Amino acid sequence: MHKLLILVINLLFTSIVICNSQLPPKNSFGNKDEKLKSERLADCKACGVFVNSFKKGLEKTERGKHEGGDAHWEEQKLGSYKTSELRLIEIQEMLCQGIGRGEYQCLQIAEEREPDIEYWWKNQEKHPDLFNWLCIEKMKVCCPPNHHGKDCLPCTDCSGNGVCKGNGTRKGNGKCNCDKGYQGENCNSCAEGFYEAFKDETKLLCSQCHDACHGPCKGPGPRNCEKYKEGWYMRENEGCFDVNECLEKKSPCNSQTQFCVNNEGSYNCLECDRSCDGCEGDGPDMCIKCKDGYELRNGICTDQSGEKRESYVTFTRYCLYFGLCVTVCIIFQNSTWLAAIFGLIVGLYISLSEYWLKNNPPPKDPGQKILEAAMGMD
Ligand SMILES: *[C@@H]1O[C@H](CO)[C@@H](O)[C@H](O)[C@H]1NC(C)=O
Repeated sequence: MHKLLILVINLLFTSIVICNSQLPPKNSFGNKDEKLKSERLADCKACGVFVNSFKKGLEKTERGKHEGGDAHWEEQKLGSYKTSELRLIEIQEMLCQGIGRGEYQCLQIAEEREPDIEYWWKNQEKHPDLFNWLCIEKMKVCCPPNHHGKDCLPCTDCSGNGVCKGNGTRKGNGKCNCDKGYQGENCNSCAEGFYEAFKDETKLLCSQCHDACHGPCKGPGPRNCEKYKEGWYMRENEGCFDVNECLEKKSPCNSQTQFCVNNEGSYNCLECDRSCDGCEGDGPDMCIKCKDGYELRNGICTDQSGEKRESYVTFTRYCLYFGLCVTVCIIFQNSTWLAAIFGLIVGLYISLSEYWLKNNPPPKDPGQKILEAAMGMD
C-alpha cells in the first residue's frame, strides 16, 4: 500500500515536470513586445505617431472634467478645462501609451519636446494643426504632401501611376517610383510587356500583354503579340493560337499510365485510373484497355478479385449457418428443450446478421459508383 502511494506521487511529480518543460518560457511574449516598442521609425513617421497619440489624448479628454467634486465649481475655479494646464497634463500622462511599434521613440519625443508642446498648447489659435507646426516647422522632419527633401521642394508629377520618393518627408529625391506596368520620369508611358489600354490628357492606363506574348504587344489578346512564347504559333492575318501538344503524333505523356490535357501555352500529363492500361481521360470508364485483374463490364474496367473474395465470404457464411443447424439436430437427439433453446438462438443470430449485412453493404468499388451516378443523372 505504501509503495503504491509513493509510485503515484512519483508519477504525478514527473508529469508536472514534463508538462512545465513543454510550456513556452513565460516572458517570450514580453520580449517580442519589448522589441516592437524599441523599434526605431523614420523621423517623420515617428513625429506623425507622436502627433496621433496626442490627438487621441485630446479625444479622450474631450468631455473630461476634473475628477471628483463639484464639476461646476471646478470649472469656475480652474477656468475653461478645454485649454487648461490640467487637460494638457492629463493628455501628457497617457501619451504614447500602448502604441506598440516605436513606443520608446515616441516617449523620447514627448520628453524632448515638452517645452514646445506647452508653447503650442497656449498658442493653438495661431497654429491650429499640431503636425504642421511640430513636425514640419519646428522639428523639420516632415514636409507638406507632395513635397520632399531638406528644403521641401515639390515632387515630380507621377501622373497618378507612381509615388514620389520622399513624399511628405525631409528625405528622398522627389523622383517617381512607378507602379508596375509604367515607366518614364513621370510614369507616363507603358513598360515592356504592357500596352496602352486608355489614354487622355490626365490619365494613362496600361494593361499587361497576353500570356502568349514574348515581350511587347500592340493590344489585348494573343493576336496583338509581336513575338510568341513557346507553345504558341502564328497564323497569317489571324493571330496566334495555342499549340495542342496532345494531338501531336507522338504523345508527350507516358501512354501506358497517363493521358494528356492541353492548356494555353502548354499541356499536362495526368495519371490514368488504376484499372486502365492506357486511357483517354480520368476514371475507369475512359480506359483504352483494362489492366490485368480487371474486366470490362458495362464499359467500365471492374476489379474481379474483389468480387471473387466477396462470393467466397458469402460461401463460408452459409457453411457456418449449415454447421450451426447440424449442431442443433445433434443436440435434438439428446434433449428436445435444449435443442429448442439453442435453435432459437441460432435462428436469431442468422436473421440478425443477415439483416445487418443487408443494411450495411460493403463499400462499392469506384467503377460501380460512377455507373450509378451516371444512371442517376438520366
Ligand atoms: C504624396 O502623399 C500624399 C498623402 O500624404 C498623397 O495624397 C499623394 O498622392 C502623394 N503623391 C505622390 C506623387 O506620391
